[in-house]
Amino acid sequence: MTGMKIAIVGGTGFIGEGLALRWARNHEILIGSRDPDKARKAAPGYIESLSCKGISSIIKGYSNEEAVTRADIVVISVPYESVAGVLGSARPFFKDQIVVSLVVPMKKNEYYKYTPPPQGSAALEMRDLLPPEVRVVSAYHNVSAKKLCNLDLEIEGDVVVCGDDDDAKKMVMSLTREIRNLRPFDGGPLGSSYMIEALTPFLLNLGKMNGMKDLGVKFV
Ligand SMILES: NC(=O)c1ccc[n+]([C@@H]2O[C@H](COP(=O)([O-])OP(=O)(O)OC[C@H]3O[C@@H](n4cnc5c(N)ncnc54)[C@H](OP(=O)(O)O)[C@@H]3O)[C@@H](O)[C@H]2O)c1
Repeated sequence: MTGMKIAIVGGTGFIGEGLALRWARNHEILIGSRDPDKARKAAPGYIESLSCKGISSIIKGYSNEEAVTRADIVVISVPYESVAGVLGSARPFFKDQIVVSLVVPMKKNEYYKYTPPPQGSAALEMRDLLPPEVRVVSAYHNVSAKKLCNLDLEIEGDVVVCGDDDDAKKMVMSLTREIRNLRPFDGGPLGSSYMIEALTPFLLNLGKMNGMKDLGVKFV
């Protein structure tokens, strides 16, 4: 699969950059930001990171709303606390795209704690916040942004993909295979997302207690 337009809302951030760098070999990337100038300034840096590796890319910066308007697939890559506000502004600009949630609602005290909304998960809340024709898929919650951003690394790990629309889920699984050594698994309906979202604070706590960083998951 090549040649799609993938918008990354919050694409100036950490994991947004990593996904942009990994997908830009095959797709046009639309970096979204609250501040279009910030996105326009970020894009050349991403292009440069790829061109150092001999990879040509089309990456452009927009407002979040403009990125959504132009995209085939939209990744929502903002902190949980800002999802409702960002989607509130961008809602009128969605069509029938696939929307990917990698958002993890969690709080940090001594340890990280999963703090889902009343719907049960960030993914289900996102479905409520978006127009009904949008197909929400959840994935990438347990993938380290730091590893994604390091193009010298082949990230080993598994990605559980949840969603209610099989075609949308297959599309996201296919996008996952484009990132070398990442293995997608069908995780069932969107309602199962809470289990995968909750793994992220668990992995962070595990890392903290055992002196490890950027842990991922692998099913054997
Ligand atoms: N970091 C990871 O390793 C990782 C792994 C898996 C999943 N995730 C999930 O991915 C999402 C993004 O994580 P991240 O580490 O990339 O976050 P981040 O770098 O802190 O933020 C991403 C972008 O969100 C936008 N943003 C920040 N605060 C905002 C606010 N109050 N209102 C609206 N937009 C705001 C910013 O873009 P602009 O200022 O340009 O608008 C920022 O660049 C989170 O939900 C996280 O749970 C992260």
